[in-house]
Amino acid sequence: MLPSSDQNEILKRRTFAIISHPDAGKTTLTEKLLLYGGAIHVAGAVKSNKIRKTATSDWMEIEKQRGISVATSVMGFDYAGHHINILDTPGHQDFAEDTFRTLTAVDSAIVVIDSAKGVEAQTRRLMEVCRMRKTPVMVFMNKMDREGKDPFDLIDEAEKELGIHCTPVTWANGQGLKFESVFALNNRPAELSEKLQEDLEMIDGVYPEFDKEAYLRGDLAPVFFGSAYKTIGVQELLDFLVANAPSPLPVTAEERVVEPMEDKFTAFCFKIHANMDPNHRSCIAFFKICSGKFLRNTYYYHVRKDQQMRFAAPTCFMAQKKETVDEAFAGDVVGLPDTGNFKIGDTLTAGEKLHFKGLPSFSPEMFKYIDNADPMKQKQLEKGINQLMDEGVAQLFVSQLNGRKIIGTVGQLQFEVIQYRLEHEYQAKCRWQPLQMYKACWIESDDDAELDTFKKRKAQYMATDKEGRDVFMADSAYVLSMAQQDYKHIQFHFTSEF
Ligand code: G4P
Repeated sequence: MLPSSDQNEILKRRTFAIISHPDAGKTTLTEKLLLYGGAIHVAGAVKSNKIRKTATSDWMEIEKQRGISVATSVMGFDYAGHHINILDTPGHQDFAEDTFRTLTAVDSAIVVIDSAKGVEAQTRRLMEVCRMRKTPVMVFMNKMDREGKDPFDLIDEAEKELGIHCTPVTWANGQGLKFESVFALNNRPAELSEKLQEDLEMIDGVYPEFDKEAYLRGDLAPVFFGSAYKTIGVQELLDFLVANAPSPLPVTAEERVVEPMEDKFTAFCFKIHANMDPNHRSCIAFFKICSGKFLRNTYYYHVRKDQQMRFAAPTCFMAQKKETVDEAFAGDVVGLPDTGNFKIGDTLTAGEKLHFKGLPSFSPEMFKYIDNADPMKQKQLEKGINQLMDEGVAQLFVSQLNGRKIIGTVGQLQFEVIQYRLEHEYQAKCRWQPLQMYKACWIESDDDAELDTFKKRKAQYMATDKEGRDVFMADSAYVLSMAQQDYKHIQFHFTSEF
């Protein structure tokens, strides 16, 4: 076990992500949290890392945004005797997979909902990941200073659409132009308007009291109302988070469960960020520390490469500043400068052979064949594709039918980013050929004979992923449902981790 001073450091950590549909107010809320932490001093200091919808073909803009999102990848600050790490998630839905992976590195999440719009598509999808991982979530109903939906309807909608029980912890005094303040339901104002009196009777009759255990199990979400823009209801959220959100949780590796207080260091890589400067192709690999304490200039074991490595310039992130650190604790994220040694999912330890689970690849939704457009640059293209895939930019499949490479993404923008980066970082040119495809499903079965028959019959739809696993590429929902019906002993998975 770690010495108690180090254990205290770990207990002080709150590592979480803020998730929302674009424009719900994530950036504004993040900024207000940083202001409370004294990490920034003026509003407007956090640049939005979102890639504006209109900017899809503006390359300078995308490059600029990539730069900004390195700076704001992790925002650490101290507040009320705790150390807060906010892990940023890309706003643009074409980078949803990045966000999915970031969610594997947090211990809890705040879901921001625009009270005028209710639960939107991206929020629903991200919440699915939280549910799958049983991540504790808090809900912040934002923009109460605008005319929006009725608060009771909003809670109903959150319960239904997000698939989680909800109970309000604060309540809004008015809404729209009349919105002035919020109050904690366990500390009600003495004077109440008639409307508020009615509301409170209803709340007491309908919602259970906040139950911390249920929240920590991921079964119950406390709900807060407020306006990030007007800084109302934000401190209530932050204070509640500090008091109730979990400190670093145990993490399951293939071999065993790793406890944060173990004295031996372990960490996994959940994100790789390529450097902006194409002249030296260096990256930052982001590692979430699962246990123990990380020390600068100390040898650690890179499990996949079976190699000892040490890091002279690890960085951690305090608000927008990247700083070299001498030590970091379970719950923290360290950025390790890398020249191609790391892949997403890699594990570093003090010597133990461990493999962390739960970094799934999600079934992409858009597919294209990628072809070489410059015969002189075949090698560069191969290298570029491999490195971009290791970085997790998109997923690569190889068709069994014709041996051609297929890139799968969750959005059109990723194809553009890949093409641009291949050209600028690898001097390689590619061409895309659209492919009508519905879903990629990882398949497995206990029945080897049935699996074999399936693979033979469906040979034209079969591919392998980067790890060589079998993937069934269904070209329509109908084909998939027929296959599921006809082959009862085969499981079709929509993530690579099952
Ligand atoms: P995002 O990161 O989730 O995409 O959202 P962001 O914080 O950028 O907020 C999106 C827009 O919503 C911004 O307006 C922001 O000012 C506004 N907003 C955020 N919180 C509130 C709130 O509580 N009340 C109201 N009324 N508006 C809010 P914008 O016009 O796109 O940008 P800006 O010109 O204000 O920066």
